[in-house]
Amino acid sequence: MQQNVLSKGPAIIPKVQAISFAAHGDDRGQLIALEDFTDKVPFSIKRVYYIYDTTPGTVRGNHAHRELKQLLVCISGACTILCEMPDGAKTEYRLDWPDKGLLIEGLVWRQMKEFSKDAVLLVLASEHYTEADYVRDYSEFLRLCNEEREGNK
Ligand code: TYD
Repeated sequence: MQQNVLSKGPAIIPKVQAISFAAHGDDRGQLIALEDFTDKVPFSIKRVYYIYDTTPGTVRGNHAHRELKQLLVCISGACTILCEMPDGAKTEYRLDWPDKGLLIEGLVWRQMKEFSKDAVLLVLASEHYTEADYVRDYSEFLRLCNEEREGNK
């Protein structure tokens, strides 16, 4: 079985899934609660970060992760997440409401772009910040995808 670079465990299967959260709504407004190890957050949350005050026209990301699992939620405003899978398939997801999430696992090249002025992109992550988990070079990403395809044959 193919092994991951960082862990000795089985490789994380690359995955992107749009998720919608149920809100506890009443006449006071809305509330969404996220807990780890649920169908909405299928990992233990080790890190939370958020991106805000984004300069107009900025494209962030431009990297993949080897093992990280992340759940992205634009809790204010809107932004677009472009995901490229190891088979080359590219999909854009518009996150424009706090009840929409995007789960990204494993080797997926991603860009975050088209941020509205009021956008706050919240990210729940399965691991602490580890530079070794990043693939920042696109040609290295393509090489790893190729390796993954060969390993799956
Ligand atoms: P960067 O990887 O450029 O962000 P993005 O993927 O959104 O384009 O991160 C910006 C800076 O923040 C960089 O110096 C690394 C640092 N950083 C942390 O210290 N901890 C974190 O959890 C993250 C995501 C980034």
